[in-house]
Amino acid sequence: MVKPVAVEPIKAAMAFEFSRTAPPPGFPALPPIPGGRYTDPAFLALEQQHLWKASWLYACHIDEIPEPGHFIVFRRTGSPILIVHGKDGVVRAFYNTCRHRGAPLVKESTGKVEGLVCQYHGWTYGLDGTLMNLRDKRDFPDFDATCYSLGGIACERFGNWVFVNEAPSPRPLQETLGEIAEMWADIQPGQTRFVHKKSYHVKCNVKVLLDAFLEVYHLKSIHQQTVDRFLDHRGTAIYLWPHGNSLMVTPNRRPDWEDPGTRGMLKLASASEITAHHNPSYHLYPNLVTPIADSGIPFILFWPCGPREMEIEVVWFAPDWGGGPLNPLWEKRIANFERILYEDTQFAEYIQESVESTGYRGLNLNYQERRIYHWHEELDRRIGRERVPAHLAVTPMLRPFVVDTIAK
Ligand code: FES
Ligand SMILES: [Fe+2]
Repeated sequence: MVKPVAVEPIKAAMAFEFSRTAPPPGFPALPPIPGGRYTDPAFLALEQQHLWKASWLYACHIDEIPEPGHFIVFRRTGSPILIVHGKDGVVRAFYNTCRHRGAPLVKESTGKVEGLVCQYHGWTYGLDGTLMNLRDKRDFPDFDATCYSLGGIACERFGNWVFVNEAPSPRPLQETLGEIAEMWADIQPGQTRFVHKKSYHVKCNVKVLLDAFLEVYHLKSIHQQTVDRFLDHRGTAIYLWPHGNSLMVTPNRRPDWEDPGTRGMLKLASASEITAHHNPSYHLYPNLVTPIADSGIPFILFWPCGPREMEIEVVWFAPDWGGGPLNPLWEKRIANFERILYEDTQFAEYIQESVESTGYRGLNLNYQERRIYHWHEELDRRIGRERVPAHLAVTPMLRPFVVDTIAK
């Protein structure tokens, strides 16, 4: 169960937000975020190296690789990463790169294998990445096979979700999740089932679209006929956690309101009042946004595909329905969400055009949009402030507003 203590503080924070006539005392005017952070090739190269290649990234759900030998190839960081369900039940990640001369161990993006045999010259690896056999070993003088295991990548599970991290010795995933790990207990991460996934290509820098999912200031404009009808952005409570994670809880206009699209769906009795009756949207740094609910969990993932190209991927999970066919109501639910997604993506290309223009003067963020500023502060910490060109740096402003725990 969710820590019960978190429910009352969140409700109190939403009540405070409704009542305030200005940001809380001491909240600063946020300086503009330089537009070059979305366009400058040198900055984007730093971001690629220090962020995308050194963060825990959601890769797949265990239902996609349920048995030993099942694999999936994850290609979101510029490296082909092979994620394999081992004979011992452990899920591991390796570069899909033979240690001989780099041919792939698997060519399909998903499937099932007994072992990993390179099709170029036949080097053979176990599902744990160990080099087992090679042809004509006599022709490699002083060859020590133990030095030629597949290159391993940090891979950890949280419940049924699999994450990878290309950093050599990253902080454990659980530590990275911080308080999120405790708060998600109410949606039973070890019981979720995979439902559906789909990616959408958008012509903008990955951050342009991610920004839209870190605030609800835009509800009254672009979601007037959808989200704004049941959520009240004036009561949104926001929590900034250390290391870039954050939470935004937007109250339902009516506490007894039920999303008609979820009527008749299985709902988790373990869900807290916040999860079941409001809209808590978590952000796991850098690119996972999830507005969890008692009836289903969408992971909204933001993937860079180049300086001005990205993909937004939506992966749906459901509470365990105990086998049998999926409830057909899911089709409509997913279609409804897609409609909201199109509302969110409509300006992305135009914003990209603007941030690349000489007329752009930076992002001017308000109190409600502080999660975007928090995201950028963390990016500079990860890159290392000494490496960020001065004209693209973000001044740290939000430290006094970062909390270790919501409970306090
Ligand atoms: S590249 Fe794999 S065996 Fe030669
Ligand atoms: Fe939106």
